[in-house]
Amino acid sequence: MSEEVSSKVSRRFFIQKAGIAGASAVSTPIVGLAPVQALAATAGAAVTFIPEGAQPVRLKINSKEYNLKLEPRVTLLDCLRENIGLTGTKKGCDHGQCGACTVHVNGQRINSCLSLAMMHEGDEITTIEGLGSPEKLHPMQQSFVKHDGFQCGYCTPGQIMSAVALLKEPCGKADSDVREAMSGNICRCGAYKNICTAIQDVRGNLKEAKV
Ligand code: FES
Ligand code: FES
Repeated sequence: MSEEVSSKVSRRFFIQKAGIAGASAVSTPIVGLAPVQALAATAGAAVTFIPEGAQPVRLKINSKEYNLKLEPRVTLLDCLRENIGLTGTKKGCDHGQCGACTVHVNGQRINSCLSLAMMHEGDEITTIEGLGSPEKLHPMQQSFVKHDGFQCGYCTPGQIMSAVALLKEPCGKADSDVREAMSGNICRCGAYKNICTAIQDVRGNLKEAKV
């Protein structure tokens, strides 16, 4: 197997195994698996591999506690998606430019691609999965559905997390105020008009939204 292919397999196994562990291991150490060990795991052998330089960290995400061992360079975005398996938070640019990775930390919105997971011990982290459920959507989620505030949906988790945080921020009543406050969230499909309408509906300012 070439080095390139081997590297891809390694990453795939790492993500698969770490994701599976994250889905089932509340309050259980979650660690990455090296490729050979991952293969052994698929054969039923019990294996544990801690990446070199990994440090223990306890994160509270959507009211659940996770004990993890992470390399200090792991971003909160990668931790959520690859270690915990919460893939609702999206990776767009990975450079703080698109807002697809927006989550709440202690009620405030941040770009999780710009923040290291290790920095958030003791914080209350909320992702789109913690906002509502398919059976009981958050009012902002309902409003995005009602007003068609998306097309492909890739930016939507970030848009909704930003929109919910915006409800507690100083923001004027006009559409232009909402557009300014949401300017960190890019929508490649251009669903801005309906996104603004959905937000204004929840804020009770629909009359002022240009429908
Ligand atoms: S993925 Fe974080 S801002 Fe684009
Ligand atoms: S709905 Fe497609 S990028 Fe926003």
